[in-house]
Amino acid sequence: MTTILRIDASARGERSLSRRLSSMFVNEWLQVRPNDNVIERDVGRFSPPAVSEDWIAGVFTDIDDRSDNQKELLSLSDELVSEIEQAEIIVIGTPMYNYGMPSSLKAWFDQVIRINKTFSFDLDRGDYPLRPIMSGKTLVILTSSGEFGFTNGGEREHMNHLVPHIKTCAFYLGVSGDENMHHIGIEYQEFRDDRHAESIRKAHEEVPQLVSKLINDEGTLV
Ligand SMILES: Cc1cc2nc3c(=O)[nH]c(=O)nc-3n(C[C@H](O)[C@H](O)[C@H](O)COP(=O)(O)O)c2cc1C
Repeated sequence: MTTILRIDASARGERSLSRRLSSMFVNEWLQVRPNDNVIERDVGRFSPPAVSEDWIAGVFTDIDDRSDNQKELLSLSDELVSEIEQAEIIVIGTPMYNYGMPSSLKAWFDQVIRINKTFSFDLDRGDYPLRPIMSGKTLVILTSSGEFGFTNGGEREHMNHLVPHIKTCAFYLGVSGDENMHHIGIEYQEFRDDRHAESIRKAHEEVPQLVSKLINDEGTLV
């Protein structure tokens, strides 16, 4: 059985274009593999808190020495990390907010990229002391943006701090290699014109194609 972790980061509910993409991904998947498991984590509606000084002190304290307060502060982080540990596929549906990720999604990453939990740290490794603890995961990023041209070669590629940032962070959650990172995006939402309609149509065509590809790929499924 394969487990998909679906994360939604839009502050919008039914009207969210990125939620429609993640919902489509999961529905298409379950049509082919109904016995697979889906964990849903809605950070857009229920944002994890920003980390605090006590939280940071807690993660740097040995597990046996943590105070009850530190354990309590880390309990949500433990739960969120456990959802990632269970998942072979991480699906992130997210809007672009101010050319990057919504603060709720950033808060989620801050809660889950954690020393001795999702990465190890060793200065003997030289200039790259961090190393992910998990491996072999697949990442699917499903986005929506109001403007356009954020993809490779596009006129706003240099302003896209959403997809590159997610990919960089996902490395520390066990996703490595471009072949294991997939992105489908809707653009032009603010223009509400034919280009937007075409962008939605294309994304809705690409999601089922990606599902078929992942299901047929060796190595993605368990
Ligand atoms: C707070 C906020 C900031 C936004 N910033 C950007 C931006 O920097 N670039 C952009 O292209 N669109 C921006 N947008 C537009 C959204 O990306 C667009 O409406 C998208 O469809 C929202 O995703 P959703 O439909 O899943 O909610 C912003 C929207 C909001 C609400």
